[in-house]
Amino acid sequence: SEGPNSNTNLQTVSRHILEDGHNSPEASGDLSLLLTSVTLTSKFIANNVRKARLINLIGLAGETNVQGEDQKKLDVLSNEIMINSLRASGKTAVLVSEELDDPVFIEEGKRGKYCVTFDPLDGSSNIDAGVNVGTIFGIYKVRDGSKGEIEDVLQEGSKMVAAGYTMYGASTNLVMTTGSGVNGYTLDPALGEFILTHENITLPEKGNIYSFNEGNSKFFHEPVNKYLDSIKNPADGSKPYSARYIGSMVADVHRTLLYGGIFGYPGDKKTKDGKLRILYEGFPMAMLTEQAGGIATTGTQRILDIKPKSIHERVPVFLGSKHEVNQVIDFHKA
Ligand code: AHG
Ligand code: MN
Ligand code: MN
Ligand code: MN
Repeated sequence: SEGPNSNTNLQTVSRHILEDGHNSPEASGDLSLLLTSVTLTSKFIANNVRKARLINLIGLAGETNVQGEDQKKLDVLSNEIMINSLRASGKTAVLVSEELDDPVFIEEGKRGKYCVTFDPLDGSSNIDAGVNVGTIFGIYKVRDGSKGEIEDVLQEGSKMVAAGYTMYGASTNLVMTTGSGVNGYTLDPALGEFILTHENITLPEKGNIYSFNEGNSKFFHEPVNKYLDSIKNPADGSKPYSARYIGSMVADVHRTLLYGGIFGYPGDKKTKDGKLRILYEGFPMAMLTEQAGGIATTGTQRILDIKPKSIHERVPVFLGSKHEVNQVIDFHKA
């Protein structure tokens, strides 16, 4: 790769995906075009997130989604941006969004062979405070012979051909995998292009940060509370872990991928499977974590091995560095 002074040779995301396509059989021309269309939606959403306060996009849309959450104006707008662009790409067959009760089946003529599951705006409760939010996506290929059916998105997470997220923060960062490692790109606002800035993101084997909504600990099951106690009061007298919890999965996972440690949203005594949705939160983040050399588990099962039964199903999540996540798994065995 090029040295620090070679910034006259920018590696844009489109060029990188195409070049990557030569190594990965799945990254065909069609997938590259679809991913390019996803990057366009991210630029569009980033633009709205940045201007939200100025163009009256803050606040509630007045509707609730299928999960019973109050939709924000930006949830609704981001969803529309994604649906329109993914349909127009001509590369999709089935779309599943957090903000829509039912899947969208793309009509013949516009139909392609990929299915996209997405969380148009993750962490939207943080929007009004200007905290980082993001978009999460997972991509499947339709099964052989299918014209696009619900079963095409109710496949094991391990069947995904690509996954990623864009984080709208101090900068706009796209992190993506097509099954051969994880790369990160930063939006250059002047060029309007995502530039490769984080090549081959690899999780440290061990970290020193934990990221849980510990306010829920009275509902957590014993293995989880025992694990948390073990890292706050290390038996060997070593330094306790630091707590970092933003409450936007995208931001919490982004930090975990870069710095290591563990992110968790467990199932608990109140909500059996926790809060995070498997198709557009659990699976994409699990694929990225594994591709970066980490582990993603429910505590007792590899997340990517799960075959969902419905599109808005939830899943307990522990993901991050091998050391920490293996400890959580051990506490669940004990
Ligand atoms: P969304 O904004 O897409 O509904 O997702 C919110 C999720 C996720 O971003 C985050 O990890 C989690 O909710 C935080 O939940 P708590 O507020 O219960 O900690
Ligand atoms: Mn929501
Ligand atoms: Mn979300
Ligand atoms: Mn959301």
